[in-house]
Amino acid sequence: MKPNRPAASSGSQCLIVGCGYVGLPLGKELARQGHKVFGLRRSLLAEAEMKAAGITPLHADITQPDSLKNLPRDFDWVVNCTASGGGGADDYRKVYLEGNRNLLAWLADSPPKKFIYTSSTSVYAQNDGSIVTEKSPAEPEAPTSQVLVETEKLLLAAVAERRFPAVVLRVAGIYGPGRGHSFKQFLRGQARIEGDGTRWLNMIHRDDLIGVILAALERGTPGEIYNAADNAPPSQLEFFTWLAAELKQPLPAKVLADAEVWRKRGVTNKRVSNAKLRAELKYEFKFPDFRAGYTAEIARLAAEES
Ligand SMILES: NC(=O)c1ccc[n+]([C@@H]2O[C@H](COP(=O)([O-])OP(=O)(O)OC[C@H]3O[C@@H](n4cnc5c(N)ncnc54)[C@H](OP(=O)(O)O)[C@@H]3O)[C@@H](O)[C@H]2O)c1
Repeated sequence: MKPNRPAASSGSQCLIVGCGYVGLPLGKELARQGHKVFGLRRSLLAEAEMKAAGITPLHADITQPDSLKNLPRDFDWVVNCTASGGGGADDYRKVYLEGNRNLLAWLADSPPKKFIYTSSTSVYAQNDGSIVTEKSPAEPEAPTSQVLVETEKLLLAAVAERRFPAVVLRVAGIYGPGRGHSFKQFLRGQARIEGDGTRWLNMIHRDDLIGVILAALERGTPGEIYNAADNAPPSQLEFFTWLAAELKQPLPAKVLADAEVWRKRGVTNKRVSNAKLRAELKYEFKFPDFRAGYTAEIARLAAEES
């Protein structure tokens, strides 16, 4: 394995693996900053959008190592933000675990300066409303989240064994234009308040996730894990009460909260701390809490409708 190239913060050669909801605007921002950006995905769906964003499209399937063979590979920065698009543990295993394993093998002779992997805060199974940091146990019961833990371990082992420069981001629920699970349920009248609504919701606006990934590319330490969530998780009740007031809609109905059902569905109740991210990556949130982010989203939706 060749030694890692020296730091290059402008004019870097970047590869976004998984050029979707997060990857595409991330690539656009990197291109805007003067980097040479390639975006990889399986389909031709967003080719025109990628080109318009200054991204050179590459087509491959990271679950099929042969499809990677003929691609360029001299990248300074690689961000893997592929997603399984839901599915079960087998789907997760293919895209996250095998996908990252294939990328590691493909990049072995030409390692980047930094490799970012977007894991998930679902690796924390805490269900008692406690604050979780990167040092808290990550022992999920959900088989899908167990695959994410395995994937993190694979990458961190590559850091330890051969100084592969992987950084893990544990990402909270992403919201932004067209996205936001609880918000969309609220708009459809399908949201429910579970029990007394004290379960915590952890989220991050897409623009901030992009900022966090850029900060991790610049300042993230290989082998480190950073939680990527905003500054102030709300309770479910706080979230829906605010939305109901802003949108002049009724508060969602209450349903019984069954802790056993939650456990089986892998629903958790925790407050994800972003203190390490803020201290070490020096990232300042554009939308520090859901109020700031959804004020912008609601204004954007209103502008679209008018
Ligand atoms: N959504 C959340 O709230 C959340 C929470 C925590 C973490 N995350 C993580 O955040 C990251 C970004 O998510 P996102 O919302 O941007 O996902 P997304 O919109 O679904 O985009 C995923 C991209 O990956 C590509 N892709 C999927 N399988 C692939 C494969 N086998 N080979 C090559 N490309 C493949 C897809 O394009 P093609 O279909 O054309 O291949 C798509 O462009 C993901 O790693 C996700 O797991 C998301």
